[in-house]
Parts: sequence; C-alpha cells; structure tokens
Amino acid sequence: MAKKVVTDLDVSSKRVIVRVDFNTPLKDGKVSDDNRIVQALPTINYLLEKKAKVILLSHLGKINHKDPEKTAADMKKNDMAIVADRLKELVSAPVHYVGVTRGPALENAVSALQDGEIVLMQNTRYEPGETKNDPELGAYWASLGDLFVCDAFGSVHRAHASTVGIPTHLHSALGFLVEKEVENLSQAVHNPKKPVVAILGGAKVSDKIGVIENLLNIADKIIIGGGMAFTFFKAEGKEIGTSLVESDKIDLAKSLLEKGKGKLVLPVDVICAPEFAADAVATTVSVDAIPADQMGLDIGPKSVELFKETLKGAKTVIWNGPMGVFEFEKFANGTLQVCTAISELPDAFTVIGGGDSAAAAIKLGFKDKFSHISTGGGASLEYLEGKELPGIAVIEEK
Ligand code: 3PG
Repeated sequence: MAKKVVTDLDVSSKRVIVRVDFNTPLKDGKVSDDNRIVQALPTINYLLEKKAKVILLSHLGKINHKDPEKTAADMKKNDMAIVADRLKELVSAPVHYVGVTRGPALENAVSALQDGEIVLMQNTRYEPGETKNDPELGAYWASLGDLFVCDAFGSVHRAHASTVGIPTHLHSALGFLVEKEVENLSQAVHNPKKPVVAILGGAKVSDKIGVIENLLNIADKIIIGGGMAFTFFKAEGKEIGTSLVESDKIDLAKSLLEKGKGKLVLPVDVICAPEFAADAVATTVSVDAIPADQMGLDIGPKSVELFKETLKGAKTVIWNGPMGVFEFEKFANGTLQVCTAISELPDAFTVIGGGDSAAAAIKLGFKDKFSHISTGGGASLEYLEGKELPGIAVIEEK
C-alpha cells in the first residue's frame, strides 16, 4: 500500500507540523548551501497556497547533552535563527521565528499564527529527548498541530521525537520531497533498467558494507573507488603505503571480494602523495607499486578509463561516495571524470545517493545533469541497504 501524500490531507486553516531537514552547512553565521531548504519549498508553498498554518521543525547539527560546556557551545553554533534568516529570503509568506523548543513563547506564536503563515521553531535537538524519541516530547510537539507532514528525507532514518514521535499522535502524510526521493531511489533499487552499475567511494568500507551487500543483488557491476579501495587492496595482499585502511575490516573486504567476484571493479592506478595536503606533490603509480611513504588520494587515469568502460551501456547508475579527496583540486580529477562520464551516458537513469558525492557533483557544476541527486546522506545509504526507514514507515497508508 502507498503512503498518504500531502495532497491527500485537508489542510486549509489547519495547523500543519512539517518536519523538514534544514540541517544545512553553515559558514560565518550564514547558510552556505541552501539546497535542502530550497528542496522543501514545494511542500511549504503548497501548504501556504492552501491556507494552512505551517509549523516547521528541523534539527541542525548535533548537540552534546552530556557535557554542559559542550551543550552551550553546540547550541550557539547550531542556532536555527541562521536558517530562519535564509528561509525568510526564500518564501513570500511571513515567517515567525521562535527561538525556543517549548513553553509559552512557542505556544503563543502557534496560537497567533494566521492561515498562510509560517512558524519556524528552534533546533529540535536543543531538547535532549529529541534523539531518544522521548514520548512526552513527541506528544507535546504534536499538541501544537492538527496534522503532520514528513518532508525531511535526510532524517527519515532517525526514529526521533520530531520524526516518529509526533506522527504517532496525528494524521500524517509525506511531503513532495520525500515522495520524489522515494520514487527515484525506488526506481533505481527496486525496478532498475539493466544493466545496473553502482559506483561506491568515500573513506570507509565500514560505512558501505550494507550497501555493497544489498547492491550485489541488484547491480551488474560495482565500481569501488575512494579511500575504501585501500582496505580492499590490503585484503588482496597489496602494499598500500600510508593510505587509509580499516585494519579490522580487511577480512570483511576479503569476503566481499569473494562474494563479488566478476562484479567488483577496483582501481588499477592511484595518485599518491607524501602527505594529506592540498599542495602535496602528486605522483601516479600502479596499485601494485604504492611507495611505502606515500598515501593514495585519488584514482589514476587508467582507473578512470576502466571505470568509463565499465559504465558504457549502463541504463541505471547509482553513485555514492567520491573517488578521491575532491576537496583538494589536485585530487579531484577522478571524481570529476566519473561525474562527467555518468552525466554523459545516453538514456541512463542516474542517481546520486546523497552525502559527499552529491556535494561533489553540485560543487563541480553537475547539479542538473543527473536524474536524481538525493538530499539524504545516511538516509539514502540506509535506503540503498534495503532497510526500512522509520520516518516513512510511521506515515499513514492511503
Ligand atoms: C544528514 O545531514 O544526513 C541529516 O540531516 C541527518 O543528520 P544526523 O546524521 O545528524 O542525524
């Protein structure tokens, strides 16, 4: 059965709590990338047009509630007021920002809210009960609204008070962003046009074990790049110099190599350097000849060719994780080349599963060149692992 979407709810004049994911990067007291806010606008604008009273809730960063000094510093750093400033520039309706997460100021702001207006609440993680899905907190926030809409795709893998607690008390539906994310990711994972090629990168194998295991059932080829490739090289008995390695995952890499025989495609050359620095001296070497005092920071040109060849003819591509340290220009080429190759595939359905690879694609100017770039990091990984996402599971069926 399908989940309800926001258009299934009668929202006019209702207080609609919308869980959004406004966990955006911040720099110098400003939002440095507003993509997640922009992606939530279709749902927010729809509700405003329908004359709902819109109550927006989101987390921002992480708050340490164990050490009071850290709590204060984290709260200061992750104040939703910064996001409110950007939201006000992006919507035409009045935005009433409330700098607290409970009490009379919040309750009065909600009572005074007019149809077609917005209340944005302070960071949900100011409450220690948020990440524990404290039932009292979920019930309290639910008491502020009549209906609940989940449009926080980036947070649907979290069973928190604002994602799962609230909708256990209210009629609920998915927003347009979550609907779009699920449609696209599901097409790639559950109903893909063959052949399917997955490209997995990033620093750690441990982050991607579940994804590799699930994609082995779906993909025809799985390309492995990024820092995690070195744990696989180590598992093959290669010398990897000072490259990143997860020693406790070598056996696991061995078993994945065994299970994925004929499917896994590893780099054949790497660009290495004596240190992890933007201006480090870069040398290209075969993966069988990594010098003892050097670390691999990107894939080399032969690997780029091999990966391009592997991608040829793909009808579905799932990409998660950069091929190298793309934040340093010198080591961004592998990621750039892979990004270009995917974007130029004719008639392929191409999906980037969030996180660093989405940031890389957007930074490198490929924002509109993919069928879908997910706004979820952990959430899209868990989707690709085939796990149930609690923030979606809790939403009412049609
Ligand atoms: C994300 O950035 O992936 C989401 O906003 C979830 O954030 P979290 O990992 O802090 O829960």
